[in-house]
Amino acid sequence: MSRPRILVTTPIPEPGPSLLAAAADVTVLEASPSYPELVALCASGTYDVVLTQLRDRIDAGLLAQATVRGVSNFAVGYNNIDVAAATERGIMVGNTPGVLTDATADIAMLLILGTARRVVEADRMVREGRFHGWEPELMLGTDVSGRTLGLAGFGRIARATAKRALGFGMDVLFAPRPPGDRMVEDSELGEFAGKVRKVEWDDLVASSDFLSLHVPLTEDTRHLVDAGVLARMKPSAILVNTARGPVVDEVALVDALRSGRIAGAGLDVYEEEPRLAPRLAELPNTVLLPHIGSATVSVRAEMSRLSALNAIAMARGRVPDHAVNPTAWS
Ligand code: GLV
Repeated sequence: MSRPRILVTTPIPEPGPSLLAAAADVTVLEASPSYPELVALCASGTYDVVLTQLRDRIDAGLLAQATVRGVSNFAVGYNNIDVAAATERGIMVGNTPGVLTDATADIAMLLILGTARRVVEADRMVREGRFHGWEPELMLGTDVSGRTLGLAGFGRIARATAKRALGFGMDVLFAPRPPGDRMVEDSELGEFAGKVRKVEWDDLVASSDFLSLHVPLTEDTRHLVDAGVLARMKPSAILVNTARGPVVDEVALVDALRSGRIAGAGLDVYEEEPRLAPRLAELPNTVLLPHIGSATVSVRAEMSRLSALNAIAMARGRVPDHAVNPTAWS
């Protein structure tokens, strides 16, 4: 039997490349392909499986022409892929769940602390030579202990964030189902029973000192946080987004931050990455990270391993361990 052929759209860290090379003929592109290049590659008849990352737009148009039998996404989120269209075309989609939960929750906590304690402004002050010694009113921030953290969603990453926030003495609320997220029953709370409280989405918005987003991007969660929601948040509240940029209306967020309708924002993701909404970068009351929720050496290695194993399974005609649409071939 001839060896399967796998296209990797962007270089990935080990062990993926070694695993792939042992099982298949592999082509690794040097840099992310443009959309037309990706369409042509996926339709070329050359590859059995394509290993993609979040910048690769695998939409219905591409899938309609694609000759690959599987798409293995190097990410847990797969909003870059039209999964319904893939399923319709009999194309399997894989992802990398579980391995990046703690790392992403760390970044959510870092953004909570970083916005509360003004870390970017403070760091800049030191570097720019404007630190002239301890002062009673220098760079005063907000406490996190005793403040309320509201979690939108209560999946893996939200729970890991809750665990950290409880350790910092925060009161933790969650809304089990902003539109599009699923209901969480009290019986499912496990270790969090009696420690976190479930509220309605509107309550969460109105009572959070920090509102942290942990929902997947779907048509239901797009602009979940819009001008109306921002207007109902406390003026002292801080918005944290480690989920997906389009969950927030970023232009409305800039307006809310500029007018003082909310106090700050900590963002790891943006509506039109890598572009930022006009004036966002000028705002001192923000901490802005370049989508590094999962960016630790060990987590990226695990994502590499899972995405390679998914790709190899699909190339061999087997349903991968982490299939998003496991019935795609039935
Ligand atoms: C990163 O954002 C991921 O979905 O893995």
